[in-house]
Amino acid sequence: MVMDTRVVEKNDVEGAMIVEKLTREIFPRFIVWTWESVLSYINRGSKVFVGYDGNKPVGFIFLRKFHEDFWELTLIGVLDNHRGKGIGKSLLKEALKTIKGEIHLHVQTHNTTAISLYEKFGFQKEKLIKGFYSDGSDAYLMILRR
Ligand SMILES: CC(C)(COP(=O)(O)OP(=O)(O)OC[C@H]1O[C@@H](n2cnc3c(N)ncnc32)[C@H](O)[C@@H]1OP(=O)(O)O)[C@@H](O)C(=O)NCCC(=O)NCCS
Repeated sequence: MVMDTRVVEKNDVEGAMIVEKLTREIFPRFIVWTWESVLSYINRGSKVFVGYDGNKPVGFIFLRKFHEDFWELTLIGVLDNHRGKGIGKSLLKEALKTIKGEIHLHVQTHNTTAISLYEKFGFQKEKLIKGFYSDGSDAYLMILRR
């Protein structure tokens, strides 16, 4: 496998369209993102990386910027049949290189795969939030302080 991770640049319509397509494939029931909204966040400083297996886009990470030193890891996802190959780790590693400061995220308490990934990079469970998601499921607030 030839793995590559690329940032989606400001005004990169093609890159934003790839992210829209990936969100539909990876989160079909939950997320409706348009490429326009993705691009508008990127143009205001948020960071998005796409992970490739050869030429095929197979995953992405989206970090929303609230402030130079305060970010939210909004979403990370890898296509079902490409999971467990280190793509999630590469995306997170690459993204963390480019930003500084504190990063917050919310994750479903039963998503042990994602929690294990986040803990590998130093995120700590800060708080349990009951009924955080629209389906009634609980979340952990996790924070990486640097
Ligand atoms: C979470 C997700 C992004 C991880 O991506 P991935 O490419 O499969 O992850 P990696 O192969 O880089 O593995 C990273 C770590 O995740 C954990 N992990 C991966 N697969 C796992 C599994 N089947 N069971 C438990 N932990 C697992 C491990 O800690 C692993 O590190 P290790 O390889 O050193 O043991 C991916 O599973 C995914 O897209 N899930 C659905 C969407 C989602 O839940 N996103 C997070 C909330 S927004």
